[in-house]
Amino acid sequence: MKPILEIADLKDLARRRVPKLFFDYADSGSYTEGTYRANESDFARIKLRQRVLVDMSDRTLETTMIGEKVRMPVALAPTGLTGMQHADGEMLAAKAAEEFGVPFTLSTMSICSIEDVASVTKRPFWFQLYVMRDREFVKNLIERARAAGCSALVLTADLQLLGQRHKDIRNNLSAPPKLTPKHLCQMAMRPRWCWNMLKTDRRTFRNIQGHAKNVSDLASLGAWTAEQFDPKLSWKDVEWIKKQWGGKLIIKGTLDVEDAKMAARTGADAIVVSNHGGRQLDGAHSSIAMLPRIVDAVGHRIEVHMDGGIRSGQDVLKAIALGAKGTYIGRPFLYGLGAMGEQGVTKALEIIRKEMDVTMALCGKRQLADVDKSIIAENPF
Ligand code: FNR
Repeated sequence: MKPILEIADLKDLARRRVPKLFFDYADSGSYTEGTYRANESDFARIKLRQRVLVDMSDRTLETTMIGEKVRMPVALAPTGLTGMQHADGEMLAAKAAEEFGVPFTLSTMSICSIEDVASVTKRPFWFQLYVMRDREFVKNLIERARAAGCSALVLTADLQLLGQRHKDIRNNLSAPPKLTPKHLCQMAMRPRWCWNMLKTDRRTFRNIQGHAKNVSDLASLGAWTAEQFDPKLSWKDVEWIKKQWGGKLIIKGTLDVEDAKMAARTGADAIVVSNHGGRQLDGAHSSIAMLPRIVDAVGHRIEVHMDGGIRSGQDVLKAIALGAKGTYIGRPFLYGLGAMGEQGVTKALEIIRKEMDVTMALCGKRQLADVDKSIIAENPF
């Protein structure tokens, strides 16, 4: 096997090990995928300042996110159907994050339930909430997250409707995943994945289906979302959610200065500058492009996190330099999971940590508290 040196290597391996419909589900953006691509390519436009002959010993990447100590400022983002990249995917990723010392965020749209994840971890994880039309179901989800000891609720604000991902439609991806003869062929070509799936009984949206009313079976992902998710969700509901939860709240999906100001007014603990990994509003700016002005507007009032397009430790450092207190990775850990299970998630985190450490040193810094805009190079042309 060729050595795994960067996130792209994990992606290549995942492509070979995960059935096409699930690999495509992770590796897709909405419509033209322009925003998905911009998330990655805009990072490459930012250049770093190389500094020399600075004492680079005794470095640390440790910091905090919403007051929680983290080994580096990189949390695992909430991702739906994680358990389809690898059997028991959410549990494996949570264990890898715990062992590594970074937060794990469990998506509402998970294959493993909140209780499944709580049963294999000691470190409190974060729970991501989608607000459904059925508010009793939402209340119940919040209660389950509290009972499981989750230390933050991440309210995703940018998915009242689903941005269409053409690949999912072409692949006939349904909720819950329904197997067509074409899918069975794709799976037969991935025997390792199949073998792991056969060993687990967590293959469906148990935690969603067990509680949501009126779930119609085997609808397309778009139709299922339209039926379940509340299109009326508004800023007024944030107060209700805050009251039900009573703990730390992170609002995810703010890409606009005005929305960031509204989020800060709700008294939330943090916002995530995010465009859902380019899976919702195609044509929106990349997250990294919007980060500096959002930090300028609200960074003094609320912790600002970001996600979208991070593929290396250099990217994380750029986000921190532009004012993010923390970041999240989605696809990089999914590729790791699909490639090598729990070990692959650890590998993704380790790759990013090492890259970040060396990059920070070569920028002449020894700790994140000293990393600011001064490490970004001016455009010389
Ligand atoms: C996501 N994302 C997401 N966000 C969320 O709040 N709830 C969810 O269930 C999901 N599901 C999901 C599935 C998949 C396959 C992907 C790739 C993404 C968005 C996610 O939390 C995060 O914002 C992006 O993944 C960040 O971009 P990168 O790191 O994937 O480029």
